[in-house]
Amino acid sequence: MMGAIAAALGIPAAGYLLVPGRRGPSGGWVEAAELPKLVMNQPEQIVFERVRRDGWKTIAERTVAWVVRTEEKKVVAFSPICTHLGCAVSWDTAGKTFVCHCHTSAFSKEGMVLGGPAPRPLDRFLVRIDGEKVLLGQVQKSVES
Ligand code: FES
Repeated sequence: MMGAIAAALGIPAAGYLLVPGRRGPSGGWVEAAELPKLVMNQPEQIVFERVRRDGWKTIAERTVAWVVRTEEKKVVAFSPICTHLGCAVSWDTAGKTFVCHCHTSAFSKEGMVLGGPAPRPLDRFLVRIDGEKVLLGQVQKSVES
């Protein structure tokens, strides 16, 4: 009887301690938009779901990207996070710039810094086009300008 109790408690505990959990993001590509629906040279905010694994937990989290279709089969996707202190940037249609209202940084449609304290361009998602689907990968940190 004691052996059965020890096995019932010990086997799950040993599995927990010995089997490594999955770490970090899934690293996979996420279908985020349909290419024909993106207007040429018009930044569009898209919201999609990304699965992240943290230990044994799998978390579905909403993710935002600013997507710009720059050519027939080319799309650029920016992180919406300002490179100064992390506020959200938005597209100013009248000024044709990405703006951060926290400390007035401004970025061009290409993500380059136009003004304010932001130290580097907007970070970009890896982008892949698969037929009419726009797939987004991980965010790549931009280099200081
Ligand atoms: S956080 Fe965007 S300008 Fe400071």
